[in-house]
Amino acid sequence: MKGLKIVSTGSCHPQNAVSNDKLSQTVDTSDEWISTRTGIRQRYFCESEKNVDLASNAAKQALERSGISADEIGACVVATFTPDNATPSVACMVQKRLGLPNDALCFDMNAACSGFIYALNVAHGILMQGGSKYALVIGSEVISRVLDFNDRSTCVLFGDGAGAAVVTLSENSVYEFTCGANGDDAILCCPTSGGLQMDGREVFKFAVGIIPVCIDKLLDKSQLTLEDIDYVACHQANERIISHVVKKMKAPSEKFFVNLQKYGNTSAASIPLALDEMASGGMLKEGMKIICVGFGAGLTWGGIMLEW
Ligand code: COA
Repeated sequence: MKGLKIVSTGSCHPQNAVSNDKLSQTVDTSDEWISTRTGIRQRYFCESEKNVDLASNAAKQALERSGISADEIGACVVATFTPDNATPSVACMVQKRLGLPNDALCFDMNAACSGFIYALNVAHGILMQGGSKYALVIGSEVISRVLDFNDRSTCVLFGDGAGAAVVTLSENSVYEFTCGANGDDAILCCPTSGGLQMDGREVFKFAVGIIPVCIDKLLDKSQLTLEDIDYVACHQANERIISHVVKKMKAPSEKFFVNLQKYGNTSAASIPLALDEMASGGMLKEGMKIICVGFGAGLTWGGIMLEW
Protein backbone atom coordinates (compact mmCIF):
# COMPACT_ATOMS: atom_id res chain seq x y z
CA MET A 1 0.00 0.00 0.00
CA LYS A 2 1.18 3.51 -0.76
CA GLY A 3 1.96 5.76 2.16
CA LEU A 4 0.84 9.31 2.81
CA LYS A 5 3.39 12.11 2.63
CA ILE A 6 3.01 15.55 4.14
CA VAL A 7 4.32 17.91 1.46
CA SER A 8 4.03 21.09 3.52
CA THR A 9 2.30 22.55 6.55
CA GLY A 10 0.84 25.89 7.64
CA SER A 11 -0.76 27.34 10.73
CA CYS A 12 -2.73 30.28 12.03
CA HIS A 13 -3.80 31.54 15.43
CA PRO A 14 -6.06 34.44 16.35
CA GLN A 15 -4.48 37.80 17.22
CA ASN A 16 -5.68 37.85 20.81
CA ALA A 17 -3.23 36.01 23.10
CA VAL A 18 -4.71 35.37 26.55
CA SER A 19 -2.15 34.58 29.24
CA ASN A 20 -3.14 32.69 32.39
CA ASP A 21 -2.82 35.98 34.30
CA LYS A 22 -5.13 37.73 31.84
CA LEU A 23 -7.67 34.90 32.10
CA SER A 24 -7.51 35.17 35.91
CA GLN A 25 -8.97 38.67 35.63
CA THR A 26 -12.31 37.21 34.52
CA VAL A 27 -12.18 33.59 35.75
CA ASP A 28 -11.53 32.52 39.35
CA THR A 29 -8.18 30.85 38.63
CA SER A 30 -4.44 31.53 38.67
CA ASP A 31 -1.36 31.07 36.54
CA GLU A 32 -0.01 28.78 39.26
CA TRP A 33 -3.06 26.45 39.19
CA ILE A 34 -3.21 26.23 35.40
CA SER A 35 0.49 25.88 34.68
CA THR A 36 1.27 23.30 37.37
CA ARG A 37 -1.69 21.08 36.45
CA THR A 38 -1.52 21.40 32.67
CA GLY A 39 1.65 23.16 31.45
CA ILE A 40 -0.54 25.73 29.67
CA ARG A 41 0.76 29.33 29.86
CA GLN A 42 -1.45 31.04 27.33
CA ARG A 43 -3.99 30.39 24.61
CA TYR A 44 -5.48 32.44 21.76
CA PHE A 45 -9.14 33.41 21.65
CA CYS A 46 -10.86 34.71 18.54
CA GLU A 47 -12.39 38.17 18.82
CA SER A 48 -13.58 38.88 15.29
CA GLU A 49 -11.95 35.95 13.47
CA LYS A 50 -14.13 33.07 12.31
CA ASN A 51 -13.19 29.43 11.94
CA VAL A 52 -12.94 29.91 8.16
CA ASP A 53 -10.43 32.75 8.63
CA LEU A 54 -8.11 30.54 10.67
CA ALA A 55 -8.60 27.53 8.39
CA SER A 56 -8.03 29.52 5.18
CA ASN A 57 -4.91 31.27 6.48
CA ALA A 58 -3.35 27.99 7.62
CA ALA A 59 -4.27 26.32 4.32
CA LYS A 60 -2.96 29.24 2.25
CA GLN A 61 0.39 29.05 4.04
CA ALA A 62 0.60 25.28 3.51
CA LEU A 63 -0.30 25.69 -0.16
CA GLU A 64 2.29 28.44 -0.71
CA ARG A 65 4.98 26.32 0.93
CA SER A 66 4.05 23.25 -1.13
CA GLY A 67 4.94 24.88 -4.43
CA ILE A 68 1.82 23.41 -6.06
CA SER A 69 -1.08 25.46 -7.33
CA ALA A 70 -4.62 25.50 -5.96
CA ASP A 71 -5.84 23.75 -9.17
CA GLU A 72 -3.98 20.60 -8.18
CA ILE A 73 -5.94 20.07 -4.95
CA GLY A 74 -8.49 17.27 -5.34
CA ALA A 75 -9.96 17.33 -1.83
CA CYS A 76 -10.21 19.63 1.17
CA VAL A 77 -11.08 17.94 4.44
CA VAL A 78 -11.56 20.10 7.54
CA ALA A 79 -11.59 18.44 10.95
CA THR A 80 -13.57 20.59 13.38
CA PHE A 81 -16.26 20.43 16.04
CA THR A 82 -16.69 24.22 16.03
CA PRO A 83 -17.65 25.16 12.45
CA ASP A 84 -19.04 28.65 11.78
CA ASN A 85 -22.22 27.21 10.30
CA ALA A 86 -23.99 23.86 10.21
CA THR A 87 -23.75 24.50 6.48
CA PRO A 88 -21.93 25.67 4.36
CA SER A 89 -19.00 23.72 5.71
CA VAL A 90 -15.72 25.38 6.61
CA ALA A 91 -14.19 23.31 3.80
CA CYS A 92 -16.52 24.80 1.16
CA MET A 93 -15.67 28.31 2.31
CA VAL A 94 -11.94 27.46 2.18
CA GLN A 95 -12.54 26.18 -1.36
CA LYS A 96 -13.94 29.58 -2.30
CA ARG A 97 -11.26 31.65 -0.55
CA LEU A 98 -8.35 29.68 -1.95
CA GLY A 99 -9.86 29.12 -5.39
CA LEU A 100 -9.70 25.34 -5.14
CA PRO A 101 -11.20 23.53 -8.14
CA ASN A 102 -14.98 23.18 -8.25
CA ASP A 103 -14.66 19.44 -8.57
CA ALA A 104 -12.61 19.14 -5.38
CA LEU A 105 -14.25 17.03 -2.66
CA CYS A 106 -14.80 19.56 0.16
CA PHE A 107 -16.35 18.64 3.49
CA ASP A 108 -16.00 18.95 7.27
CA MET A 109 -15.72 16.04 9.62
CA ASN A 110 -15.98 15.79 13.38
CA ALA A 111 -13.95 13.40 15.45
CA ALA A 112 -13.20 16.08 18.08
CA CYS A 113 -9.56 16.02 19.20
CA SER A 114 -8.83 12.94 17.06
CA GLY A 115 -10.15 14.80 14.00
CA PHE A 116 -6.89 15.60 12.23
CA ILE A 117 -5.72 11.97 12.46
CA TYR A 118 -9.03 10.71 11.09
CA ALA A 119 -8.91 13.36 8.36
CA LEU A 120 -5.42 12.32 7.25
CA ASN A 121 -6.63 8.75 6.84
CA VAL A 122 -9.75 9.91 4.98
CA ALA A 123 -7.51 11.96 2.64
CA HIS A 124 -5.32 8.90 2.14
CA GLY A 125 -8.39 6.92 1.09
CA ILE A 126 -9.54 9.65 -1.31
CA LEU A 127 -6.12 9.89 -2.95
CA MET A 128 -5.93 6.08 -3.21
CA GLN A 129 -9.12 6.18 -5.31
CA GLY A 130 -7.12 8.07 -7.92
CA GLY A 131 -8.09 11.15 -9.87
CA SER A 132 -6.07 13.72 -8.00
CA LYS A 133 -2.57 13.94 -6.63
CA TYR A 134 -2.95 16.28 -3.69
CA ALA A 135 -5.34 16.95 -0.81
CA LEU A 136 -5.57 19.67 1.81
CA VAL A 137 -6.16 18.46 5.36
CA ILE A 138 -7.01 21.09 7.96
CA GLY A 139 -7.73 21.05 11.69
CA SER A 140 -9.43 24.29 12.73
CA GLU A 141 -11.28 25.27 15.89
CA VAL A 142 -12.92 28.24 17.59
CA ILE A 143 -13.48 26.53 20.94
CA SER A 144 -13.79 29.84 22.82
CA ARG A 145 -17.28 30.07 21.29
CA VAL A 146 -18.52 26.94 23.09
CA LEU A 147 -16.75 27.35 26.44
CA ASP A 148 -18.65 27.87 29.67
CA PHE A 149 -16.58 30.55 31.42
CA ASN A 150 -18.37 29.75 34.70
CA ASP A 151 -16.78 26.29 34.67
CA ARG A 152 -13.22 27.13 35.67
CA SER A 153 -11.96 23.56 35.61
CA THR A 154 -12.69 23.31 31.87
CA CYS A 155 -12.55 26.79 30.31
CA VAL A 156 -8.90 27.38 31.23
CA LEU A 157 -7.76 24.38 29.18
CA PHE A 158 -8.81 25.33 25.65
CA GLY A 159 -7.82 27.72 22.88
CA ASP A 160 -8.47 28.56 19.22
CA GLY A 161 -6.27 27.92 16.18
CA ALA A 162 -5.77 26.07 12.93
CA GLY A 163 -3.15 23.92 11.25
CA ALA A 164 -3.08 22.57 7.71
CA ALA A 165 -1.16 20.12 5.57
CA VAL A 166 -0.89 19.48 1.84
CA VAL A 167 -0.65 15.71 1.45
CA THR A 168 0.08 13.29 -1.37
CA LEU A 169 0.67 9.56 -1.80
CA SER A 170 4.15 8.21 -1.56
CA GLU A 171 5.42 4.96 -3.12
CA ASN A 172 7.67 3.36 -0.57
CA SER A 173 7.08 5.12 2.71
CA VAL A 174 5.83 3.75 5.98
CA TYR A 175 2.13 4.34 6.61
CA GLU A 176 0.04 2.89 9.41
CA PHE A 177 -3.27 3.97 10.91
CA THR A 178 -5.30 2.90 13.90
CA CYS A 179 -8.46 4.34 15.40
CA GLY A 180 -11.34 3.64 17.73
CA ALA A 181 -14.52 4.99 19.26
CA ASN A 182 -16.49 4.36 22.42
CA GLY A 183 -19.66 6.43 22.57
CA ASP A 184 -19.78 8.37 25.84
CA ASP A 185 -21.49 11.70 26.47
CA ALA A 186 -20.97 11.60 30.23
CA ILE A 187 -17.27 12.35 30.60
CA LEU A 188 -16.81 14.72 27.65
CA CYS A 189 -19.63 16.45 25.81
CA CYS A 190 -20.33 19.66 23.93
CA PRO A 191 -24.05 20.18 23.14
CA THR A 192 -24.73 21.97 19.84
CA SER A 193 -25.93 24.94 21.89
CA GLY A 194 -22.45 25.17 23.50
CA GLY A 195 -21.25 24.67 27.07
CA LEU A 196 -18.40 22.18 26.81
CA GLN A 197 -18.55 19.83 29.81
CA MET A 198 -15.84 17.51 30.99
CA ASP A 199 -14.99 15.20 33.85
CA GLY A 200 -11.29 16.08 33.88
CA ARG A 201 -10.12 13.15 35.96
CA GLU A 202 -11.92 10.57 33.82
CA VAL A 203 -10.60 12.15 30.63
CA PHE A 204 -7.11 12.12 32.09
CA LYS A 205 -7.37 8.38 32.83
CA PHE A 206 -8.74 7.67 29.37
CA ALA A 207 -5.93 9.66 27.70
CA VAL A 208 -3.00 8.11 29.56
CA GLY A 209 -4.43 4.66 28.86
CA ILE A 210 -5.22 5.04 25.16
CA ILE A 211 -2.10 6.86 23.88
CA PRO A 212 0.28 3.93 24.60
CA VAL A 213 -2.30 1.54 23.10
CA CYS A 214 -2.32 3.55 19.84
CA ILE A 215 1.48 3.80 19.73
CA ASP A 216 1.92 0.08 20.40
CA LYS A 217 -0.63 -0.81 17.70
CA LEU A 218 1.21 1.30 15.11
CA LEU A 219 4.56 -0.19 16.12
CA ASP A 220 3.13 -3.67 15.99
CA LYS A 221 1.61 -3.17 12.54
CA SER A 222 4.83 -1.71 11.15
CA GLN A 223 7.13 -4.17 12.94
CA LEU A 224 9.09 -1.21 14.27
CA THR A 225 10.08 -0.20 17.79
CA LEU A 226 9.86 3.19 19.47
CA GLU A 227 13.62 3.56 18.88
CA ASP A 228 12.92 3.59 15.13
CA ILE A 229 10.57 6.56 15.54
CA ASP A 230 12.07 10.05 15.45
CA TYR A 231 9.19 11.99 17.00
CA VAL A 232 5.78 11.46 18.56
CA ALA A 233 3.29 14.34 18.31
CA CYS A 234 0.38 13.66 20.65
CA HIS A 235 -2.76 15.75 20.82
CA GLN A 236 -1.70 18.73 22.93
CA ALA A 237 -4.17 18.61 25.82
CA ASN A 238 -2.05 18.58 28.93
CA GLU A 239 1.68 18.29 29.61
CA ARG A 240 0.99 15.90 32.49
CA ILE A 241 -0.79 13.51 30.16
CA ILE A 242 2.24 13.46 27.87
CA SER A 243 4.73 12.99 30.73
CA HIS A 244 2.65 10.12 32.14
CA VAL A 245 2.85 8.43 28.73
CA VAL A 246 6.60 9.05 28.45
CA LYS A 247 7.09 7.42 31.85
CA LYS A 248 4.74 4.52 31.13
CA MET A 249 6.47 3.77 27.82
CA LYS A 250 9.97 4.33 29.28
CA ALA A 251 10.59 6.66 26.35
CA PRO A 252 12.96 9.60 26.07
CA SER A 253 10.91 12.75 26.71
CA GLU A 254 12.68 14.62 23.84
CA LYS A 255 10.88 12.31 21.42
CA PHE A 256 7.49 13.66 22.50
CA PHE A 257 6.91 17.15 21.11
CA VAL A 258 5.11 19.66 23.35
CA ASN A 259 3.89 23.14 22.39
CA LEU A 260 0.62 23.28 24.37
CA GLN A 261 2.10 25.95 26.67
CA LYS A 262 1.43 28.49 23.87
CA TYR A 263 -1.96 27.32 22.62
CA GLY A 264 -3.78 25.30 25.26
CA ASN A 265 -5.90 22.48 23.91
CA THR A 266 -6.97 23.39 20.36
CA SER A 267 -8.69 20.03 19.68
CA ALA A 268 -8.43 19.06 15.98
CA ALA A 269 -5.94 21.89 15.39
CA SER A 270 -3.39 20.77 17.97
CA ILE A 271 -1.57 18.09 15.97
CA PRO A 272 -1.20 20.14 12.75
CA LEU A 273 -0.10 23.14 14.86
CA ALA A 274 2.54 20.90 16.44
CA LEU A 275 3.66 19.49 13.08
CA ASP A 276 3.91 22.97 11.59
CA GLU A 277 6.04 24.19 14.48
CA MET A 278 8.27 21.11 14.24
CA ALA A 279 8.64 21.52 10.46
CA SER A 280 9.23 25.29 10.59
CA GLY A 281 11.77 24.83 13.36
CA GLY A 282 13.79 22.43 11.18
CA MET A 283 13.17 19.40 13.41
CA LEU A 284 11.72 17.23 10.64
CA LYS A 285 14.03 15.88 7.94
CA GLU A 286 13.12 13.79 4.92
CA GLY A 287 12.80 10.10 5.78
CA MET A 288 12.17 10.64 9.50
CA LYS A 289 9.44 8.47 10.95
CA ILE A 290 6.82 10.14 13.08
CA ILE A 291 3.79 9.02 15.04
CA CYS A 292 0.83 11.29 15.78
CA VAL A 293 -1.85 10.32 18.30
CA GLY A 294 -5.18 12.00 18.88
CA PHE A 295 -7.77 11.31 21.60
CA GLY A 296 -10.84 13.11 22.80
CA ALA A 297 -14.58 13.49 22.79
CA GLY A 298 -16.69 10.77 21.25
CA LEU A 299 -14.84 9.16 22.82
CA THR A 300 -12.51 8.80 19.88
CA TRP A 301 -8.86 7.98 19.44
CA GLY A 302 -6.54 7.57 16.48
CA GLY A 303 -2.90 7.15 15.61
CA ILE A 304 -0.93 7.49 12.41
CA MET A 305 2.64 6.62 11.46
CA LEU A 306 4.17 8.54 8.57
CA GLU A 307 7.51 9.09 6.94
CA TRP A 308 8.39 12.77 6.57
N1 COA B 1 -8.34 27.39 38.97
C1 COA B 1 -8.21 27.21 40.31
N2 COA B 1 -8.74 26.16 40.96
C2 COA B 1 -9.43 25.27 40.22
C3 COA B 1 -9.61 25.41 38.84
C4 COA B 1 -9.04 26.53 38.21
N3 COA B 1 -9.12 26.75 36.89
N4 COA B 1 -10.35 24.39 38.39
C5 COA B 1 -10.63 23.61 39.43
N5 COA B 1 -10.07 24.14 40.55
C6 COA B 1 -10.09 23.61 41.91
C7 COA B 1 -11.28 22.74 42.16
O1 COA B 1 -12.38 23.50 42.55
C8 COA B 1 -10.78 21.83 43.27
O2 COA B 1 -10.83 22.53 44.48
P1 COA B 1 -11.23 21.80 45.85
O3 COA B 1 -10.19 20.76 46.05
O4 COA B 1 -11.17 22.91 46.83
O5 COA B 1 -12.59 21.24 45.60
C9 COA B 1 -9.30 21.66 42.94
O6 COA B 1 -8.96 22.76 42.08
C10 COA B 1 -8.96 20.35 42.27
O7 COA B 1 -9.81 20.19 41.19
P2 COA B 1 -9.75 18.90 40.31
O8 COA B 1 -10.71 19.04 39.20
O9 COA B 1 -9.84 17.70 41.17
O10 COA B 1 -8.26 18.99 39.77
P3 COA B 1 -7.39 17.92 39.02
O11 COA B 1 -6.12 17.78 39.76
O12 COA B 1 -8.15 16.71 38.65
O13 COA B 1 -7.03 18.69 37.66
C11 COA B 1 -7.59 18.93 35.34
C12 COA B 1 -8.05 19.09 36.78
C13 COA B 1 -8.73 19.35 34.44
C14 COA B 1 -6.37 19.82 35.10
C15 COA B 1 -7.19 17.45 35.08
O14 COA B 1 -8.20 16.61 35.55
C16 COA B 1 -6.91 17.20 33.64
O15 COA B 1 -5.95 17.69 33.09
N6 COA B 1 -7.75 16.37 32.96
C17 COA B 1 -7.62 16.11 31.55
C18 COA B 1 -8.39 17.13 30.80
C19 COA B 1 -8.10 17.15 29.33
O16 COA B 1 -6.97 17.19 28.95
N7 COA B 1 -9.16 17.14 28.52
C20 COA B 1 -9.13 17.26 27.11
C21 COA B 1 -8.94 15.95 26.48
S1 COA B 1 -9.21 16.04 24.77
